[in-house]
Amino acid sequence: MTEPTGAELGKKTAAAMALGHVKSGMTLGLGSGSTADWFVRLLGERLAEGDLDIACTATSKRTEALARECGIPLRALDDFDRLDLTVDGADEIDPSLDLIKGGGGCHLIEKIVAAASDTLVIIADESKLVPVLGAFPLPVEIATLGWGTTMRRLAEVMGDDVPLTRRKTGLAQGDEPFLTDEGNYVIDCRMGQIANATTLATALNAIPGVVEHGLFLGMASRALIGSADGSAREVIRP
Ligand code: 5RP
Repeated sequence: MTEPTGAELGKKTAAAMALGHVKSGMTLGLGSGSTADWFVRLLGERLAEGDLDIACTATSKRTEALARECGIPLRALDDFDRLDLTVDGADEIDPSLDLIKGGGGCHLIEKIVAAASDTLVIIADESKLVPVLGAFPLPVEIATLGWGTTMRRLAEVMGDDVPLTRRKTGLAQGDEPFLTDEGNYVIDCRMGQIANATTLATALNAIPGVVEHGLFLGMASRALIGSADGSAREVIRP
C-alpha cells in the first residue's frame, strides 16, 4: 500500500485509529467512500494476521467489491439482528456530531446500517469538521418514478433560494443521471447553511418519493479525525 500524504494521510490515520475499536467476536458495518476504503484495506491487513474473528456487512457495491478484494468475508445485512459497530465516513460533521452524508450516493444503505448498529464511529480528515451543516450540498435520494413531481415538493420545502440539481455521472452536458445502488436518483440541495436540521429532516421524510436524505442526526457516537501531519484525535458526541 503506497503511503499517502496530506488529506489522504489524515483519512488513513483516522481509519487506523478506528481499527482500535474492533475486537474479536464483533459484528461490523463497513461504510463507503475514500476514507472508509482505508478502513477496509487496513481491516483486511489486520484479518490476514489470523487472530481476529469478526463478521461484516457492506454499505455499498463499491465497498463490497473492495472488501472481497481485501479478503474480508461478508454477509448480508439481513443475517444480523444488530451490529456492534459501524465505521463510516462523512461529508460534514458539526460540533454535535450531526452529519451530512451521501456524497457517494450510498446514504440509504449507510443509514439503515448505522441505525442497526450499537455504535457508529465516523472517520474523516480535518476538512469535514464544520461549525454548521449545509455548505456541502445535501443529497436527497428520490424514486425515479415521478421524480419531477418529487423535486417540485422538495423545492417547496427547501425554498426558492436553494438550487437543486439532479446528480449526474459526470460534469459534461450529456452525462447520464447518477443512479444509486438501489436504482434511485440523487438530488443535491445547495443550502449553504441548515438552520434547523431536525425540522428539515422531518419535512423531507414527509415527502412521498423521497427515499432517504443525507442528514444523520444523533447517530454518531464519536468521530475520529485525522490530520495531514499523521496525528488523529477523537471527538465524542456531547
Ligand atoms: C457516501 C458517504 C461517504 O462516507 C462520504 O461521502 C465521505 O466520503 P469520503 O470519505 O470519500 O470523503 O456518505 O455516501
